[in-house]
Amino acid sequence: MKRSFLSACILLFISFVAIAQQRKVVLLDTDWKFSRTDEKQAALTGFDDKSWQTVTVPHDWAISGPFDIHNDAQTVMVIEDGERKPALRTGRSGSLPWMGIGWYRKKIAIPANAKGSRCFIEFDGAMSHAVVYLNGERVGTWPYGYSSFSFELTDKIKYGADNLLAVRLENPEESSRWYPGAGLYRNVRLVYTNNIHIDHWGTYITTPSVSNQQADVNIKTTVLNQLDKNQTVQLTTSIFAPSGKKITETVKSLPVESKTDFEQRVTINNPQLWNTESPNLYKAVSQVMINGQVVDTYETAFGIRSIVFDNNRGFILNGKQTKIKGVCNHQDIGPLGSAVNYRALERQLELLKQMGCNAIRTSHNPPDPQLLDLCDQMGFLVMDEAFDEWKIQKVKNGYHLLFDDWAEKDLRAMIKRDRNHPSVILWSVGNEVPEQKSETGAQTAKFLVDIAHNEDPTRLTTSAFNSIANAVKNGLAAAVDVVGFNYWPANFAKIHAEHPEWKLLGSETESTVSSRGEYMFPVQERKSYKYANKQVSSYDLDAPSWGNAPDVEFATQDAEPYVAGQFVWTGFDYLGEPTPYNNDYPSHSSYFGILDLAGIPKNRYYLYQSTWTDKKVLHLLPHWTWPGREGQVTPVHCYTSYNAAELFINSKSQGIRKKDPAKKYGSYRLTWDSVRYEPGELKVVALDDKNKPLATEIVKTADKPYRLKLSADRNVIEASGNDLTYITVSAVDKDGNVCPTAGNDIRFKIEGAGTIRGICNGDATNIQALTGSEMKLFNGYCVLVVQSTNLKGQTMIKAESDSLKAASLSLTSK
Ligand code: GAL
Repeated sequence: MKRSFLSACILLFISFVAIAQQRKVVLLDTDWKFSRTDEKQAALTGFDDKSWQTVTVPHDWAISGPFDIHNDAQTVMVIEDGERKPALRTGRSGSLPWMGIGWYRKKIAIPANAKGSRCFIEFDGAMSHAVVYLNGERVGTWPYGYSSFSFELTDKIKYGADNLLAVRLENPEESSRWYPGAGLYRNVRLVYTNNIHIDHWGTYITTPSVSNQQADVNIKTTVLNQLDKNQTVQLTTSIFAPSGKKITETVKSLPVESKTDFEQRVTINNPQLWNTESPNLYKAVSQVMINGQVVDTYETAFGIRSIVFDNNRGFILNGKQTKIKGVCNHQDIGPLGSAVNYRALERQLELLKQMGCNAIRTSHNPPDPQLLDLCDQMGFLVMDEAFDEWKIQKVKNGYHLLFDDWAEKDLRAMIKRDRNHPSVILWSVGNEVPEQKSETGAQTAKFLVDIAHNEDPTRLTTSAFNSIANAVKNGLAAAVDVVGFNYWPANFAKIHAEHPEWKLLGSETESTVSSRGEYMFPVQERKSYKYANKQVSSYDLDAPSWGNAPDVEFATQDAEPYVAGQFVWTGFDYLGEPTPYNNDYPSHSSYFGILDLAGIPKNRYYLYQSTWTDKKVLHLLPHWTWPGREGQVTPVHCYTSYNAAELFINSKSQGIRKKDPAKKYGSYRLTWDSVRYEPGELKVVALDDKNKPLATEIVKTADKPYRLKLSADRNVIEASGNDLTYITVSAVDKDGNVCPTAGNDIRFKIEGAGTIRGICNGDATNIQALTGSEMKLFNGYCVLVVQSTNLKGQTMIKAESDSLKAASLSLTSK
């Protein structure tokens, strides 16, 4: 009896010591209470949250809809789009109910033995104007919804009791040019530390000299002492190779009164450099010791690589000229909205990697930090962007209202958080800011650039200009290190000739618009054209007035080696900005994506793949199911890596085409412009120089839709509560050909371990709920996203439609 009492005391003591002395991170994901109620209404119920919805964070309160024409309908004059008078824009921010107030509350049990340790709350982002309370006391505020931030809670904690954490968020109308999402849409965590600990984002690792033989690694570590007496602190930093093997360590002791920066340096022989093909990652483990006892351990992943922007050779990675083949992306992940999910981001990057993309621009705001982890691990370069607005307004309630008080804090937060990521190669301080045309432009740019250089002298800054002549004239372009061009690729040669010392980049290119599976005739290049059905043709020749076909930018990039590369607008379709249908509800999501909102590749995907990779690509368009078009001209385009090909319709040759730079777009696509439609088989045969066949691609005329087909990107997922599988649903005929215009209504049933997380068909005009269990096919397809729970076992998914044979699929959660 006595003995067990004693061991209980020892255990209690050990756990106290463990909590008090070591860093402990607790993810606050489950059992949040959520309400859209404002404080007046909440006061009437005595702030009783029993009737509030129980939600899991990350959470986007607006993604379930409903879509409505009145949601944030903006009457604006979009100067960037060349508008001269205000006009109504209905789907600009997605037509979803993201505006207004939302409250989140969570009870957190904090044990008595946590007393003596420090406690912080960290938000990876909260949309927006977050005010954080603990036990009714205000802890802090952070208005910019895309910033990560942390507050200390220690002095407001009730130990050995439940503590009430509350977060008030408010999204003003007309505060965004796209769908921002709403709520606690990124991770939130509690961090307990010792009184002596490494600061938030407290390591800064740089590689001042890098070669294949040797690299110097510099580690700056900020140690805080929150006791009121001076302490001698010993910091040991151990370095682990990509294999996981420890390769070296360095030890330093210094007195710490309140805050001390430790500077340590190690040399690594024969380093495994980080690059886009071999994204080798090292790890630094920092250990803080007092009197021989470890009080904090902190890990930082880093890469060893050198980056240079050169005025003549563009971007150089580890001494090798490397074209940036990038895409811009907004943060929303289609049917998941902005509620971040690691697997959803990973899937996006996998699809982009397959296409040959090697870079991401986080347009136009700091991303979720997990995106950067993935870019480090998967080998993507990142242009990390801070702002879409400075002091001059783009949207009525936009960032210009915050700039004076918050720009420095937001920019420092982004750089401190992100500067250890080898993937990050540029800090972008702004996108198409109206300051391009103002006298104060250069001054504001300098203010931001100085902050970036101060936080991270190892990377250059950039800003994206769509009004380059003005930005040159007012000195803004000269105030940043790398000059980013949005569109107007013909300007590169001119500006390069006038300012040969400038480093140039296509920060935003193309803006080609298309709807997956839609084809309009006659086929022609069109600017800002609106079709009656609110879709856009997928021959990839449509763009807004400032945009162009991908082929135009390819030609520029090929001809101008001094341009560091390009970021295409955009990788994926996103919610909001349904150009050219800006006032044509129900259009509410973009047409710009190379992949649609569901993540299904549009034709253009293969045009990029054929140009950006060494893969053998042979892709035909359009589909070949055109009842009623018999005998009519139905041009055929082929996106291919081969130099020549012959086209056949029902075995009749339509002629050989060769890549031909003399022909418009002839370097990048093969076209048969006067082909007449006849049902049957469309076949293309790739040829070598001697007309020997190398590869074949066939598209067949489909019969009536007969049955549904399901195919999952992964059949086994983790029972982690947040793993995903993406199931592509299609309607096929009796022979298994996809029916390219099928629009059947599909109902889903799900049983077992998984749940429906989202559903989407990529149609920018479709306003069915993105989180429901019913969806129409759009041009033959839709995608169902199934999420794991914590249960292991099987999930049965059944897809049904009135006139079609049903399909089912079984998934395993492990
Ligand atoms: C650019 C802008 C982007 C997006 C795009 C559409 O001017 O930077 O945010 O609006 O146009 O083409």
